[in-house]
Amino acid sequence: MKGIVLAGGAGTRLHPLTRAVSKQLVPIYDKPMIYYPLSVLMMAGIRDVLVITTPHDAPSFVRLLADGSAWGMNITYAKQAEPNGLAEAFIIGADHIGTDTVMLVLGDNIFYGAGFSQTLRRAAESLDGCVLFGYSVADPERYGVGVVDADGKLLSIEEKPAEPKSNLAISGLYLYANDVVAKAAALQPSARGELEITDLNNRYVAEGRAELVDLGAGFAWLDTGTHDSLLQAGQFVQVLEQRQGIRVACLEELALRQGFIDADQCRRLGEEMANTKYGQYIIGVADAAAVTAAAATTAAATAVR
Ligand code: TTP
Repeated sequence: MKGIVLAGGAGTRLHPLTRAVSKQLVPIYDKPMIYYPLSVLMMAGIRDVLVITTPHDAPSFVRLLADGSAWGMNITYAKQAEPNGLAEAFIIGADHIGTDTVMLVLGDNIFYGAGFSQTLRRAAESLDGCVLFGYSVADPERYGVGVVDADGKLLSIEEKPAEPKSNLAISGLYLYANDVVAKAAALQPSARGELEITDLNNRYVAEGRAELVDLGAGFAWLDTGTHDSLLQAGQFVQVLEQRQGIRVACLEELALRQGFIDADQCRRLGEEMANTKYGQYIIGVADAAAVTAAAATTAAATAVR
């Protein structure tokens, strides 16, 4: 499966913060916003990622993420000339997707919760059309809203309905079969001039090939599009990290846990930032993994004898 992070857009609701800096590069507590959606793709085991940005922000993303090889990944870049809608990602990303399936994540969405990797892997295994992720919200009228049958099959999606039929908002994470490229190419711009992802998803609904996975209670899907939600997201991450001594969306740790890099490589990445708590955390993670690997080697050697 290939990955796409859609990190373009205008970010007008965050002005003046985002006049000179891309929204997806602003900090969420201790790391740039794009680390969070990138971590989602990594959790799904995806190493090949296309980052789509505005033409003028592209160099900043390249400076931050480079070719991804530090994390054992392959990151490439493409530009979206204008914010023509989310579904344009599959037209811009057609070559990147090739004959594969694809997971799209919006560059300003934060997902966090226990068992998320497993949820993603299960969704990828059951993929036959598209899988969307629903999240119960108090204000569904602000979102695309899904109605599902008992098996999780999507019966309809309504965009910002005045009278929502459920409170399941469709989040910014989407899995598609390869025919998404052809389906996106056949879309017409909506009244607001965008290629709408809801129109795309409704094609799958019409074919009975759309599934909605409920992310469930106890999970966090955070918005970062306004000044208040941006600050709240940062505070959420700060509280979790300080209370539990963990890191949310630590790409170095995730790369190690996914087997994209080994403990030595991970330690080197930590050493580059050793004067920060973030870097020290990575060194700690790498050292713990090295001890575990050494113990496993000793146990295996003992078993052979
Ligand atoms: P939005 O929040 O809908 O739009 P925006 O980021 O441009 O913000 P604002 O409403 O404040 O002007 O976009 C959701 C995500 O998708 C965000 O990460 C930007 C991205 N996006 C694109 O990359 N290209 C697009 O054409 C659109 C519409 C959004």
